[in-house]
Amino acid sequence: MNNARPCVLAACAAAFLQFGCELAPTAPVSFDSSADVSIAAVTPQQALGRLLFFDKNLSLNNNQSCATCHDPKWGFTGPDPMINAHGAVYEGSIAGAFGDRKPPSSAYAGESPILYFDGTGWVGGSFWDGRATGWTLGDPLAEQAKGPFLNPMEQALPDMATLVALVAASTYADTFDAVCPDSDTPERYNCIGRAIAAYERSAESSAFSSKFDASLKGKARLTGQEQLGYNLFLNKAKCALCHPAPLFTDYTYDNLGMPSNPENPAYVADPSFRDPGLGGFLRAAGYSEDVWGIELGKFKVPTLRNVDRRLSKSSIKAYGHNGYFKSLKEIVHFYNTRDVGSWPIPETLANMNDTELGNLGLTVAEESAIVAFLKTLSDGYVK
Ligand code: HEC
Ligand code: HEC
Repeated sequence: MNNARPCVLAACAAAFLQFGCELAPTAPVSFDSSADVSIAAVTPQQALGRLLFFDKNLSLNNNQSCATCHDPKWGFTGPDPMINAHGAVYEGSIAGAFGDRKPPSSAYAGESPILYFDGTGWVGGSFWDGRATGWTLGDPLAEQAKGPFLNPMEQALPDMATLVALVAASTYADTFDAVCPDSDTPERYNCIGRAIAAYERSAESSAFSSKFDASLKGKARLTGQEQLGYNLFLNKAKCALCHPAPLFTDYTYDNLGMPSNPENPAYVADPSFRDPGLGGFLRAAGYSEDVWGIELGKFKVPTLRNVDRRLSKSSIKAYGHNGYFKSLKEIVHFYNTRDVGSWPIPETLANMNDTELGNLGLTVAEESAIVAFLKTLSDGYVK
């Protein structure tokens, strides 16, 4: 967290006024359905966004949609337990093309403000390094959504004209024309980005339907262990300093000192690979070294909503920007014992946060209680 943090809810309110995004969902849409939800239940813009999100034809080899790496049944992150167990980086549309990061959840990312410096640190933006800043479209999430289609490591289309032509020739061309009537290609491309962002902010994607949410409405009760976990999360374990409810992130950046993932394809190709995170983006954006140097190795605080959500309890999910951690138990143990246990050296030693984690003094039972609490954040809770 930053010392002088902005009020997250105020940021949400500002974002709401600016972009009309939803903090609390309105339309009650059934959540657990990647292809069978009635699109009549959402606005035309959200419906278009949904169609785009799941359309594999919008990739070079017709083999990859956003959902390939952001599967709803996995909390909108990577759905392949084998990949998660190893490098945690997903192959793009082109065989053998890999990026160097683990997919974060694409849900609940709609309240992140336009990237700005608040006096002590950077806040907002989209991606692990904030590079979809929101500075051009006024909305980081819509800017983010334009990226994957043309990224050679992802859907790998050659240019925006190809993307727009594919959508215009799709089975949902009518919806596209209705939502994006402008004939100008860059405008239609922006409109595609905004539609996907609208879907990601919809009640289907950001559902607020977890046991935790039900407990806030008095419709469920956390068990004693889950409640203990939440108390620890708020106090002794310090988690809420960076992961405050209701979105479980404050959109700031930190270097937790997590180790490199030796199976990350970028690391395999070059063992001296160190992901520069926010500092790398700021350097590329032309800031001076005194600005980017202190941000090297920092990554955006991710939401914890749906962190445990997966197809089956025994399937492996990966955690952290490089997917080093393979279970919630492991990452909680890391927060507790980074400075007193035997962990490999940090990926980036510079700029490491050494005040808010590392030696929390949690007992084994307390670690387990925090994990039990994190599991209450999975959407689709039914009694
Ligand atoms: C090949 C896998 C892959 C595909 C396909 C893909 N993504 Fe991602 N997504 C990622 C990875 C990896 C990241 C993190 C990249 C980074 O931070 O540099 C990411 C980041 C994101 C984020 C940022 C979340 C946050 O909190 O910062 C959003 C939102 C997102 N993707 C949505 C989408 C959408 C929309 C599409 C389709 C247009 C898409 N993704 C296609 C892998 C993928
Ligand atoms: C100082 C701020 C800070 C504190 C305190 C903090 N976190 Fe985090 N958390 C982060 C950041 C930043 C990341 C991403 C780091 C990275 O990938 O390098 C993260 C990542 C995570 C992830 C991985 C999520 C994913 O989708 O990959 C989990 C789970 C998590 N934190 C849980 C916790 C818990 C539980 C606590 C309390 C024990 C906690 N955090 C305390 C900042 C913090």
